[in-house]
This record gives sequence, C-alpha cells and structure tokens, in this order.
Amino acid sequence: MNGTISSYGRVIGIGSYLPEKILTNDDLAKIVETNDEWITERTGIKERHISDPDKDTSESMAIEAARRAVADSGIDPLKIGLVIVACTTPNVLFPVLSASVQAAVDADNAMCFDVNAACPGFLHAFVTAQNYLRSGMVEYALVVGTENLSNYMDFTDRSTCILFGDGAGACVLQAQKDLSYDAIMRAAGKRSECMHCESYMQKGKEKTPEFLKSNYIQMDGQTVFKFAVTEVPKVIEDLLSRTGTSADEIDYFILHQANRRIIESVAKRLKQPIEKFPMNIAKTGNTSSASIPILLDEMKKDGLLGEGKKKVILSSFGAGLLWGAIQTEI
Ligand SMILES: CC(C)(COP(=O)(O)OP(=O)(O)OC[C@H]1O[C@@H](n2cnc3c(N)ncnc32)[C@H](O)[C@@H]1OP(=O)(O)O)[C@@H](O)C(=O)NCCC(=O)NCCS
Repeated sequence: MNGTISSYGRVIGIGSYLPEKILTNDDLAKIVETNDEWITERTGIKERHISDPDKDTSESMAIEAARRAVADSGIDPLKIGLVIVACTTPNVLFPVLSASVQAAVDADNAMCFDVNAACPGFLHAFVTAQNYLRSGMVEYALVVGTENLSNYMDFTDRSTCILFGDGAGACVLQAQKDLSYDAIMRAAGKRSECMHCESYMQKGKEKTPEFLKSNYIQMDGQTVFKFAVTEVPKVIEDLLSRTGTSADEIDYFILHQANRRIIESVAKRLKQPIEKFPMNIAKTGNTSSASIPILLDEMKKDGLLGEGKKKVILSSFGAGLLWGAIQTEI
C-alpha cells in the first residue's frame, strides 16, 4: 500500500487487441456509395479492423488487451487493486466487463467497475484510476478501453459507417512519486443532439423502422467536427497554462483518432509540428474509448516511449458532449 498523497500512476505496461478482419475503403465502396479518395481525404482513414461475430466481443477484446498489458508490465496480477473498463458498446450489461477482465487476468484482489463515457471513456477511466492511486487506496490499477462499434453501425449510412473500427487497449498503472500529472475533463450535456444511439431494450418502445434506425450510431458530422477543432485545443491550452508548461516542452500529443483533419487542426492551433501527434487512424479508424491505449501500444512497440520519461498530453472528445485532456509522463 502506498499512502503518499503525491504519488500518481505511471504507465508500466501496455497491451492492445485488434480483430483480424480488415475492412478497407474499397470494401466499403462495394456496400455504400463512397470511394477511397473521398474517405482518405476527409478522414485520413484507409482501413479499420472489424470484429468477427464468432470470436470477438467487447469483453473478449478487453480481456486480450488486458492480458497483454499485464504481461508487458511484468507484475504479479494479485498486486492490482483496481480494474476499470471503459466501454460504450458492451456485449453484456452485467456482469460488468471489468469483472470478466479481473477473472481472466487473475487480478483477484482488485475492485472492479466499468465507465461509459463514449470516446473519451479511456480518459475518464484513467483519471478515475489516478485518484485511487493518488489517495493510496491502491498501488496498481488496470485501465482498459474496448469497443465493438461495428455492432452499432448502419452499413447503409455512408456518413457514419466509414468512420469507426473495433478493438481494445489497456494500461497498467503503478503509483510512483515524482511523477507529474494533471487533467481537465469537461462536458456539455446541453449540446448532446449531434451524436446519438438509442438502446434497443426499452419497455413500451415499438420496434418501428424509425426506432430501429435510432439503435445505430446517428451523427451530425460537421457539428462534431466543429466542436472538436474548437474545444480540444482550448482544453489542452488551459491544461498547459494550469501546469505552467509550454506546448514546446511536450514530447507527444496523443489525441483521439477520430479524423486526421481534426488532429492537423489541433496541431496548427497549438503551433506544434505534426510529427508530435502520432497517428494510426489510417489503419484503425475511430475505435472510440480504445483509440488512445491502442495508439500508446503502437508507440511503445515503435520505440517512441522507450528511453526516459516522455512528457505527453492525452486528449479525447465524443458523444455527451464530453472531452478533456491529461498531462503526464510516460
Ligand atoms: C463525417 C465527416 C467525415 C464528413 O465530412 P464533411 O467534410 O463534413 O462532409 P459533409 O458531411 O459536409 O458532406 C459533404 C458531401 O459528401 C457526401 N458524403 C458524406 N459521406 C460520404 C462518403 N462516405 N463518401 C462520399 N461522399 C460522402 C455528403 O452526402 C455531402 O454531399 P452533398 O454535398 O451532395 O450533400 C466529417 O464531418 C467528420 O469527420 N466529422 C467528425 C465526426 C467524428 O469524428 N465523429 C466521432 C467523434 S468521437
């Protein structure tokens, strides 16, 4: 047990899982009226991984990513005191996914709960875990983001089905002293209309064609785009100002992989080179709450997080509307 109030969680293990099946822009062009050039130019996405209905669920993907993160950390899973899974597209409402992950990785001493905060769900789970680690209540935490978005995609709607992909990512955090950390998380529930997905299981709701359509992801893309390019740089600037850090001092801005143009716009507004904004959107599409830990795993494998501590900003946005930014060292 670590009772020091100034301890924060440092990422000591990362893992991810992407389904085998790949859906390319050319594949989509056979299903809806679109083409590779349009999708690439407007989003930066070339392909995305899609779950295999016989094999992949939000739960199974979370478990695989978590196993890899725990193995990467090298710790005894019995030391983990907290498991949080962020997921908006769970295959079961209960038992909660975090309990399934706990069982699968043998983290038998951990408390468990899930969070649903749409695309920034991983950030909300990360911030929540930091508060448990900081308080000294737990010394190690396992934080997972997992999504099976293709279950909620209307493959006749070209404005949404091109954007999303499936997958999971996970991080093990250890409470450590002398680690800088701060976060700002924001919400605007009054601006929620631009992204919506209705639950199928509702007493008294007639299964009309209109209602069935609303069980898929509905989105006003342009409004979401404007929200992201306005609020994401603002929250990052506010966080940098609060921590007294200049953007130049940040090694990497690890942003939610929703749209390449959004990321480029944030880089421009922060007057930072695009090289400081790692991206894997071309190969994953938008994997919602899994996007940041999947990217972190790729960065680690590419040696970007290898030597010494890197100062990073993690930032995400999504339905709610919810958004936020975390500044820490990895
Ligand atoms: C969805 C998004 C790519 C659309 O790009 P856009 O430049 O805003 O395009 P618009 O919606 O203005 O549509 C422009 C035209 O392209 C068409 N279009 C839409 N999707 C298309 C597709 N997949 N292929 C070809 N044409 C398409 C539209 O019908 C429209 O045609 P029209 O002018 O004849 O009406 C973009 O708005 C976006 O990425 N928004 C953010 C969404 C997001 O990230 N959501 C998740 C947040 S967590």
